[in-house]
Amino acid sequence: MTRNAVDVPVALLGYGTVGAAVHRLLDEQGDEIERATGHRLRVVRALVRDVDRDRPCSPGAGVLTTDFATIRDDPQVRLVAEVMGGLDPAGDHVVELLRRGTPVVTANKQLLARRGPELFEAAAGGGVQLRFEASVCAAIPVIKVLREALVVTNVHRVLGIVNGTTNFILSAMEGGQTYAEALAEAQRLGYAEADPAEDVGGLDAAAKTAILATVAFGSRVPVEWVEVEGIEGVTREHVAAARAMEMHVKLVARATLVGDLVDVRVGPALVDARHPLAAVEGAFNAVMLQGDAIREIMLEGPGAGGIETASAVVADMVSIVGTTGTGFLQNDPVWRELGRLPAGELASPWYLRLEVEDRAGVLARLAQELAAEGVSVARLVQQPADGHAVLHVVTHEAAQGGLERALAAIRALPESRGHASALPVVSDRGVEELGWA
Ligand SMILES: NC(=O)c1ccc[n+]([C@@H]2O[C@H](COP(=O)([O-])OP(=O)(O)OC[C@H]3O[C@@H](n4cnc5c(N)ncnc54)[C@H](OP(=O)(O)O)[C@@H]3O)[C@@H](O)[C@H]2O)c1
Repeated sequence: MTRNAVDVPVALLGYGTVGAAVHRLLDEQGDEIERATGHRLRVVRALVRDVDRDRPCSPGAGVLTTDFATIRDDPQVRLVAEVMGGLDPAGDHVVELLRRGTPVVTANKQLLARRGPELFEAAAGGGVQLRFEASVCAAIPVIKVLREALVVTNVHRVLGIVNGTTNFILSAMEGGQTYAEALAEAQRLGYAEADPAEDVGGLDAAAKTAILATVAFGSRVPVEWVEVEGIEGVTREHVAAARAMEMHVKLVARATLVGDLVDVRVGPALVDARHPLAAVEGAFNAVMLQGDAIREIMLEGPGAGGIETASAVVADMVSIVGTTGTGFLQNDPVWRELGRLPAGELASPWYLRLEVEDRAGVLARLAQELAAEGVSVARLVQQPADGHAVLHVVTHEAAQGGLERALAAIRALPESRGHASALPVVSDRGVEELGWA
């Protein structure tokens, strides 16, 4: 440390994969941080469950503690990074620290998505910053881009692949594996937890989508607004049908601003092979931001991993020491109140899989049912299958409500065989939508 550098003792809540990597980065990059900010960040305490557990790297004598009060009540601690995960007790700890005037950085998406309003109120009460870059897509600096670089851009749509586990599984299924085989491989390689429910069921992506929508649209978007569907129902047949139509099945997170109303959803979608999201493979994440002045910006990178996540946590810590006292970006990311778009009103192109009797006149009946609800067909591929026909249909843009009514009518037709199903298609890019292509 140089003679003029400001010493900043910091504490970590959690010293696991991310916490230990934060400590390592602060030590290894200490000189760079000092050159950039004039501050030297030094880990003096870290909260864990078990101080005696074997750890790959030692934090130094006296750093680990199981007693939160020793961190909360230590007057030298200027900044805390919450990297322990879970809602409880992490949430109460963060609220207490903020209320007492200690700035906090968190990597905890579920905590932010579920208790965000309370956390930001506590930060405002304590007059300190709460930063949360690592909570969405780990190393990808999307929160900073939205809050700082795009602050005067009217972002109206966020599209993303925000869960690496499901993207890895879907990529592996394109290589010919079944869902079960791909999940087992993801677990073997450490991309999926032993209990993968939060990832494959879409809940991890839903929390990130709620946070992204809140920051992008400047209005509180509760996680309960996110319509969620996981990838458990995706079969090799879906993946093969998509490939036959030059598309890829992806778990797509989507936040859309329609006038003053918000629509947020996470679910499997067919992504056109020419769309930039189609190229995001394996455990990578990507977020595409579409807005009035920017057309579209895509950010892609590693969405998980200890050191990757730690890079975003440390960057937030550096931002806090670099901006404290200037008033810049100390506020809640929310500045207006938008409503929720009524279910079924968002329009999208759709992929439909229909099984019907293979005889004259059936196609016309289907087209009639679709047209009655304002759904028109853009592409159709017919496959013979065991005495009946499987139809793979891509529609032009149509509202979800109309599409669901048309599907219900098709299922009720005497010629219908099997279960008619639908997935949204991601094909349009902001530039085309706005006429700039
Ligand atoms: N790992 C990633 O790739 C990644 C990516 C993005 C975001 N995140 C987020 O980062 C956070 C941390 O993840 P991680 O992978 O580092 O988790 P982790 O390896 O399981 O580490 C959790 C740490 O918190 C401590 N801890 C947990 N519950 C505690 C409690 N009740 N009281 C005291 N200490 C407690 C643990 O103590 P012990 O060491 O004694 O067990 C451990 O040191 C989570 O919010 C996660 O969602 C992680």
